[in-house]
Amino acid sequence: MAVTESAPDVAPAMREAEVAPLAHEGILRRQSARESAARTYARALPIVPVRARGLTIEGADGSRYLDCLSGAGTLALGHNHPVVLEAIRKVLDSGAPLHVLDLATPVKDAFTTELFRTLPPGFADHARVQFCGPTGTDAVEAALKLARAATGRTGVVAFSGAYHGMTAGALEASGGASDVRVARLPYPQDYRCPFGVGGDRGAELAARWTESLLDDPKSGVPTPAGVIVEPVQGEGGVIPARDDWMRRMRDITSARSIPLIVDEVQTGVGRTGAFWAVEHSGITPDVMVLSKAIGGSLPLAVVVYRDDLDVWEPSAHAGTFRGNQLAMAAGAATLAYVRENRLAERAAHLGARMLAQLRGLAADFPCVGDVRGRGLMIGVELVDPVEPPESAAEAAEAAEGGAGRPRPAAPDLAVAVQRECLRRGLIVELGGRHSSVVRLLPPLTITDEQANAVLDRLSDAVASVVARPTGPRGREVEHGRRARPGESVRRAERTERIGRPEHGAIAGHRRATPPPRQRHS
Ligand SMILES: Cc1ncc(COP(=O)(O)O)c(C=O)c1O
Repeated sequence: MAVTESAPDVAPAMREAEVAPLAHEGILRRQSARESAARTYARALPIVPVRARGLTIEGADGSRYLDCLSGAGTLALGHNHPVVLEAIRKVLDSGAPLHVLDLATPVKDAFTTELFRTLPPGFADHARVQFCGPTGTDAVEAALKLARAATGRTGVVAFSGAYHGMTAGALEASGGASDVRVARLPYPQDYRCPFGVGGDRGAELAARWTESLLDDPKSGVPTPAGVIVEPVQGEGGVIPARDDWMRRMRDITSARSIPLIVDEVQTGVGRTGAFWAVEHSGITPDVMVLSKAIGGSLPLAVVVYRDDLDVWEPSAHAGTFRGNQLAMAAGAATLAYVRENRLAERAAHLGARMLAQLRGLAADFPCVGDVRGRGLMIGVELVDPVEPPESAAEAAEAAEGGAGRPRPAAPDLAVAVQRECLRRGLIVELGGRHSSVVRLLPPLTITDEQANAVLDRLSDAVASVVARPTGPRGREVEHGRRARPGESVRRAERTERIGRPEHGAIAGHRRATPPPRQRHS
């Protein structure tokens, strides 16, 4: 199969009447003149998508891109998957109402049935679902509101680095907030472990800290209404929680009658290599927040929770747009397709291979500080390649097997890599605490050949940033390739200047990448 899919033809009327006059440059110019300063992706990705299929997006200027942003992880089946289009057409052709508030419809019934079929059995057997306003953040609000109503408590515990959305309550629970009612506890991670140890020990210390704060009457953290956690922090820098730590969080919250809210907005529907990421640890949460992929590319969000928490009064969480029939049809088709075609397993398999190959990048380039992820949720952290001087205490700690001190994050390098990826026809996202993590969120339908092309383009992009005569901060050699064992640094530098024989090729597969910026003729 070709690396890029041919996107379906736009309707002739659209092609003649709109595409030609709406030239790429003009559209971008008008966007920056008319839209708010808060616009996000449009700043780093100055493209004008007009057609898309699977992994491929085609711009108004004819450029084609492999899309590893996937609507911020929304497009489990990629763009315009035939089963999604068919489901949408079926509703349109049936004459069914498109807007029904929260009334019962056959389309909604089919969606709920399929959703419950995929949920962990111990959870689905006693679950209730609330359809929310169509974004993840509204479902987070609903979950927090529900936990407060059910427990009569107000506080919430969330984790450093978390991202739960942009409305007031969700933002308050996110890592960047200056919070009011939210206590934030450490989320374990290996590369930047807050305790400097990483691994199982770091996770154990994080769990103990949580336990101790909840039990200490003078900790300043009263028993909360709920604990909200992402099984893999996405926006926080693609940091998977250890399964043991998730089980500890489950035990700690159960023992104290605190509802455990798992935010699966980004991790759900096969993304991490299990249909729902909670399945990795085997825990049964009290509340699950779901959005993004459950709408099959259209807006849909729900909160699902154990039925004994259902203390809400009618209209406790209302909203006009909670009955999007097209999204429910597209979502049901997507959930069924992922389940029937075992795409979660495929994500686990392919994700492990991509991670292994990307670790070759870290071995070659000191500016690649860490490669991590789970399934097809992958992050590559760019760091300043200059080793900061180590204190005596840190050196001793590292000698005892500690995690050592990670190098400082390098957001400028990450931006440069993202830009070079785009030049090569690859769309990637940046994330992480310092926006220094290049993120890959390809659709679960990505082929092996396409995955190789993604890896090649990313590798090329890193190599080209590294090879700049003067790097972003004017330090050629510092960004340069790492000397291989037995090779002098001087020789590594020379190879860097005269050209790399394996420039950009990640070990283990042959280059399948076309030259930068494929144009559609
Ligand atoms: C884990 C998580 N929760 C909540 C949200 C918010 O979803 P939305 O942007 O649809 O409001 C996001 C968005 O990226 C997310 O990743």
